[in-house]
Amino acid sequence: MKKIFDYQMEWSGLQNRMAYMFNPKSGRTVLLAVDHGYFQGAPSGLENLRKTIEPLLPYCDAISPAIGGLKTSMDPRTRTPIILRATGGNSMRRSDELDDEIATVSVEEMIRCNAIGFTVSCYVGLPNQRQTIENLTTLADEAHRYGLIAIGITAVGADPVLTKFVKGEREDGGELTPDDKKDAVRYLKHACRVLSENGADIVKTYYCDGFEEVVDACLSPIVIAGGTKRPTKEALDFTHKAISAGAVGVDMGRNIFQNEHPVAMIQAVRAVVHEGKSVAEAYELYEEIRNA
Ligand code: 5RP
Repeated sequence: MKKIFDYQMEWSGLQNRMAYMFNPKSGRTVLLAVDHGYFQGAPSGLENLRKTIEPLLPYCDAISPAIGGLKTSMDPRTRTPIILRATGGNSMRRSDELDDEIATVSVEEMIRCNAIGFTVSCYVGLPNQRQTIENLTTLADEAHRYGLIAIGITAVGADPVLTKFVKGEREDGGELTPDDKKDAVRYLKHACRVLSENGADIVKTYYCDGFEEVVDACLSPIVIAGGTKRPTKEALDFTHKAISAGAVGVDMGRNIFQNEHPVAMIQAVRAVVHEGKSVAEAYELYEEIRNA
């Protein structure tokens, strides 16, 4: 397993901001992603953002809203570090355009909101890859002048390989073949390395079998997105596998706030990420909390 402080980092404010986001004992993080509305509209579980966020906040090491969600639905007195979604300009109404993203939040706005960092989606392999990688490099270049954390996301996208992998089935609905799974590792390894070479201090991607290869190829620490909602045990299982394979935490949304018991789920995820609990132990904790 790897910890955030195994990686070479600048001494500067960047490292200090990392210390706000990463648990000093475990060296890992549970970051709650609630930025989905910037392109998904109001996905289930985020209709009432304030109501969703408030009970989960005490269990987040950091939280990742979009600018609108931050300004309208979060108490400015919170002490939970903010990671601000900084690219967009797309929406699921035009899912063929997902990769046509632009910078939507300035570094000045990040500082004004007292965010410790920001996220940028990079659609590696898609027609607008250059534009989205440029979003990362431009924002990271300016943000690094102030020691802000740049998180590059390569977990959302419509790359054919990724779509197959995320959906867990081939276009014809058939099971993924071993070659499909090898494609997924190859794609995620390639995409994560590209982001880490272009200024991402942390890379967010999906877990896949063979994840160790993705971690080893990436120059920056990796956190995993959860992706679409899975059954509780399955979500705890891929979380456990990702941490064991070297992820330094999660930047998870739907598998927490769409879980039948979100507060129980985020505590079970924390047990895996911070206490090294097994899936069975974490699931037992989940059951205890949901039944309490
Ligand atoms: C799309 C994102 C989400 O933050 C990312 O996908 C993590 O959320 P989830 O665990 O629901 O996939 O970048 O807005």
